[in-house]
Amino acid sequence: MKAHPQSGFSSKIGAILATAGSAVGLGNVWRFPTETGANGGAAFLLIYVFFMIFLATPIMIAEFTIGRHGQKDVFHSFAVMSRNHRLWKYMGFLPVVAGILVLSYYAVVAGWTFEYAYTAGINGFAGKSASQYAQDFSLFISHPLRPLMWMFFILALTFVIVALGVQKGIERGAKVMMPVLFLFLVILAVCSLSLPGASSGIDFLFHPDFSKVTGSTVLSAMGQSFFTLSVGICCLCTYACYFRKDINLVSNGFSVAVIDTMVAVMSGIIIFPAVYSVPGLSPDAGPSLVFITLPNVFQHVFSGVPVIAYIFSLLFYLLLVMAALTSSISMLEMSASYFHAEKSMSRPVACAGVSIICLFLGALCSLSFGPLKEVQLFHMGFFDLFDFVVAKLFMPIGGFLTCVFLGWVVNGKVMKAELTNNGSLRQPLYPLLRFLIRYFVPVCILLIFIHELGWIG
Ligand code: PFF
Repeated sequence: MKAHPQSGFSSKIGAILATAGSAVGLGNVWRFPTETGANGGAAFLLIYVFFMIFLATPIMIAEFTIGRHGQKDVFHSFAVMSRNHRLWKYMGFLPVVAGILVLSYYAVVAGWTFEYAYTAGINGFAGKSASQYAQDFSLFISHPLRPLMWMFFILALTFVIVALGVQKGIERGAKVMMPVLFLFLVILAVCSLSLPGASSGIDFLFHPDFSKVTGSTVLSAMGQSFFTLSVGICCLCTYACYFRKDINLVSNGFSVAVIDTMVAVMSGIIIFPAVYSVPGLSPDAGPSLVFITLPNVFQHVFSGVPVIAYIFSLLFYLLLVMAALTSSISMLEMSASYFHAEKSMSRPVACAGVSIICLFLGALCSLSFGPLKEVQLFHMGFFDLFDFVVAKLFMPIGGFLTCVFLGWVVNGKVMKAELTNNGSLRQPLYPLLRFLIRYFVPVCILLIFIHELGWIG
């Protein structure tokens, strides 16, 4: 039951970029500015950074430990490490199910980003009134076919990359897309900072106003930290199965968390100054910020130089497209790897099977903005339901169980051996991480979860 060494990531940098690729996504460029905008800016950012350091990153390192120890796939890791325990081994199904659910609704929004990149490419944002952007967006997402077409496109692209394999598809894709993504971020941030209203936007992002903090701010910050680092549903556990034995799991984890936070903050630096430089617009527009407010903003702030408006919009939406793609790849991999490694299906067949399921479920999510609007389960449409199940249930429960498993069920020597690469690395953070994984993270998640259910405070 040994892994095939040639099927893992070929280099340390490849492993970091692929993992960062999973983490950096719409969560950073779309969800982070939305949440920050809706929750009062800098105060939210501070709480979010706290959760990133003390909650999400330790869970990521726990996932790395479990994945790399098994060296095959998540199901195998849990089975081996729990010695085939009759309950714990079923944790291995979490990424299989969660991967399908998350990809199904993520592909919908990823599809929207393609539509917007396309519109920007044909200069379709030019010369419209503010209300037209809102109208266009709602017409587009409620259209019965067009969003489906883009969703199909992104699923097909994701399929091709993942079917090519870990090194030739996932790693190579990340090595190409991540540097381009960073480059775009820097160009856009510099442009945005040079806008007239930039300082108000920067103020909003960096000067905390704690009067805006409520219980729900804390919950949103925790949810955002899990989502943005892809933790809780064993996605990074899947990637860690392909890590070489000489990778430093702790420094890899912190590198990914730092990269991810930098991208989120830079997205804020791109978006908020731009929003503040158009009189009358506010940053708390919610999920429509990126699809309604921004196209309007880009046209307005650069109205004197239409070429810049064109380039800025195009780069921004291409940035979203790439961010979405590097994450959707990891979602497909977390499900498909089970069928490939455990059920001996060929990689393309496993990927095709999962993609087809996502296509059906994704269609339900997409149509819940249009023809299926009236269909509600637990008072939610399909899109909201999938998001709720993944982000509000699976991620915290999965993160809790992952930490309990590694901290309490698995022999402590395993964690120490993995984090120190069998004693060959000094790992001064080991005692702190062990404490966080055994006590702090599970207790925090439990309290927040109970609070969310309305049982306390
Ligand atoms: N971290 C990704 C983002 O920020 O967009 C989203 C994500 C990827 C969530 C993979 C969950 C996952 F398993």
